[in-house]
Amino acid sequence: MCGIIGFTGVKNAAKVLLEGLSELEYRGYDSAGIACFTGDNTITTIKTVGKVASLNACIPPELESSCGIGHTRWATHGGVSKQNAHPHTCGKVTLIHNGIIENYLALRDELSQSGRQPVSQTDSEIAAMLIDSLYQGDALTAIREAAARLTGAYAFCILFSDQPGTIYCIRKGSPLVACHCESGSIIASDMVALLRYSKDYFVLEENHVARMTADGISLCDLYGNPAVPDYQTVTWDTSSAQKNGFKHYMEKEIHEQPEALSRTIMPRLIKYQENDTYYTLPDFAADNIPDTLFRGLSRIIITACGTAMHAGMMGKILFERLLRIPVTVDIASEFRYQNPILDQNTLVITVSQSGETADTLAALRLAKTAGARTLSIVNVKGSSIARESGYVFYTHAGPEIAVASTKAYTSQLAAFYLIAFRAAFANKKFSAQECSLNMERLLSVIPALHKILEAKEYTQEISRHLTKATDLFFIGRSMDYALSCEGSIKLKEISYIHSEAYAAGELKHGTLSLVTADVPVIALATQHDVLSKMISNIKEVRARGAFVILVTVKDAVIEESLYDYRIDLPDSDDWFAVFPAAVVLQLIAYHTSYLRGLDVDQPRNLAKSVTVE
Ligand code: G6P
Repeated sequence: MCGIIGFTGVKNAAKVLLEGLSELEYRGYDSAGIACFTGDNTITTIKTVGKVASLNACIPPELESSCGIGHTRWATHGGVSKQNAHPHTCGKVTLIHNGIIENYLALRDELSQSGRQPVSQTDSEIAAMLIDSLYQGDALTAIREAAARLTGAYAFCILFSDQPGTIYCIRKGSPLVACHCESGSIIASDMVALLRYSKDYFVLEENHVARMTADGISLCDLYGNPAVPDYQTVTWDTSSAQKNGFKHYMEKEIHEQPEALSRTIMPRLIKYQENDTYYTLPDFAADNIPDTLFRGLSRIIITACGTAMHAGMMGKILFERLLRIPVTVDIASEFRYQNPILDQNTLVITVSQSGETADTLAALRLAKTAGARTLSIVNVKGSSIARESGYVFYTHAGPEIAVASTKAYTSQLAAFYLIAFRAAFANKKFSAQECSLNMERLLSVIPALHKILEAKEYTQEISRHLTKATDLFFIGRSMDYALSCEGSIKLKEISYIHSEAYAAGELKHGTLSLVTADVPVIALATQHDVLSKMISNIKEVRARGAFVILVTVKDAVIEESLYDYRIDLPDSDDWFAVFPAAVVLQLIAYHTSYLRGLDVDQPRNLAKSVTVE
């Protein structure tokens, strides 16, 4: 959480920082601040409660600087206040921080004895106090000694008041990517903030220190041994990280799904010849994922957070159906405390859009330590989870900016389908012909998504009926239940309407008592094998007066009296109906939030990348 950026070069630093903070705002948006070396080489700090736009309004036009650091905050330690906003200064040190310093209370007590008193309630200010207490003109020594004393996660950009024009950076756990280009040296929590300057960037290694000046970036480990940056190139351009005519990032990202899915699927298709016939199969040779990863497995554990975990629920259904081995889905923040049973025949799949979610990363580390096989489904290239995982499957969905995940989710689903099909083929549970047939069905999802996006107006009309609701249920069975969980989180996170996903058959065991005429129910009925049972469950809520929105397939025969609105999905096989159905639920959530006049892209209290446990 929190977005950080540092720049030193030939451009106006305040402008570079503010532009970068707007790109990083999805990471946190309760307060923001910058600190810059100004004319007489003093450090000027400006911070405010609110979003980057509020900070922008506080920056005097005459502020001239070529070196500075900026921060957009998602509060963890200490409430939302100007004092707690970053940057924090102590003595010669001014810094910004992303992460959590776990031992800050002990450090605060110790440092207070030497006369240093914090003015904020943050753990970050204590880090500034610590580094200042260790600084005697040699930044590397102070940073090394501070790193030895700090426990927790951090990415820091640090200004020393007696070193104008220079920024020092270090990270452990939290992300930092950097580049040197014509305009100077720039570092940020995410590549999106670098994109207007360069497509080439490198990930700062953990426990390495970057010393940035206008002329370049030098890297070394904590003992001063030089290191060489490993530059990578992004394949997308600046327009991928902009709204491109859409009102919101979420709306744009919903519309990008056909393209995102095609980027996930197409590069993994091969023509496979058996006898005289060619089949289309998924193949991960270019990902360096061998078939042996899927052979000899006794079980699979999928672990992730939020939307990524919901994609994992669909993965479980697919793997169990195809591989016939036990699969569990664990919330990453619980995984470690369950003393999980892991061995070399267990495949642990971590799923993460950002590749930085602290709980998911911790789960991955535990799995590796226990000797399990590890595979990660990740969107952000070079992220911590991608780097630490035994094998990585990139979804290639492109940058996702809206806090509510949409295209990342459907491309995670596509990743699970591809992996499940390949694993089934590698284990001879699927013939080449069966695999090929299912690949064709998966590919047909792309035109189906284009088609369902045409239902936008209709979903808007439906949303008008939801804006006054205070509670709402999503119900479904099997794949539709897994999708209900995602539909529910989507709606509640951006519309602030309390909603719950319920396995349709479970409703009658308690929760049905909450269903009244004021509680809308979104019923998913896309799976033919459970359709008649699902119809019975819809009857149960209808009998309690519920306003019912039905998402189903064209050939489903369901009495009109059982629903108020019906959305028929484009033709697709049952296994693949969840893709267009997901888009319907995303559109309903989007319109409901918008019609309620809320901040669709940046819902209250949330952040996109959760790098704290
Ligand atoms: C946050 C985001 C969610 C996301 C979850 C996991 O809560 O707001 O949209 O699903 O983190 O993030 P990850 O990057 O690991 O997929």
